[in-house]
Amino acid sequence: MMGKITLAVIKPDSVEKGYIGPILFHIVNAGFYIRALKMTDLSKRSAKKFYAEHKESLFFDSLVNFMSSGPIVSILLEKENAVEDFRTLIGDKNPIHAAEGTIRKLYASSLEKNAIHGSDSNQNAFRECLFYFSHREIFW
Ligand code: TYD
Ligand code: MG
Repeated sequence: MMGKITLAVIKPDSVEKGYIGPILFHIVNAGFYIRALKMTDLSKRSAKKFYAEHKESLFFDSLVNFMSSGPIVSILLEKENAVEDFRTLIGDKNPIHAAEGTIRKLYASSLEKNAIHGSDSNQNAFRECLFYFSHREIFW
């Protein structure tokens, strides 16, 4: 599966605004297969763990508060070249800089409330998939 999977997270801002459906439609239309999906809540502790690479950043506390502020939808996606293609599909982290037609351009409201997460490498994709899903949920 290496190279063929990535982890997406529909963030609390998108869930609250009713964008789960439109975002999933966008993702599936782009050729991604949904292998696993769940709606969950991140505790602050889990949010800190998920974003551990940013723990020294000034925005870390705010990011953790935001990510644990409401339900999220985590999705394990499958496609050739999944990580790179999905990063292209979601666009720049700052919606101001995101290309037209990308998910963040369409649905994000700010750099923090930027609608969706996508893994940034194959190694992180594996780590992040196992953060949200069990082996059994992944390898069926
Ligand atoms: P980052 O990993 O740089 O972006 P991406 O989500 O595209 O991989 O940052 C993680 C998240 O942290 C990002 O989606 C939004 C948030 N963030 C801020 O709130 N402020 C910032 O200045 C940065 C760089 C990121
Ligand atoms: Mg990142």
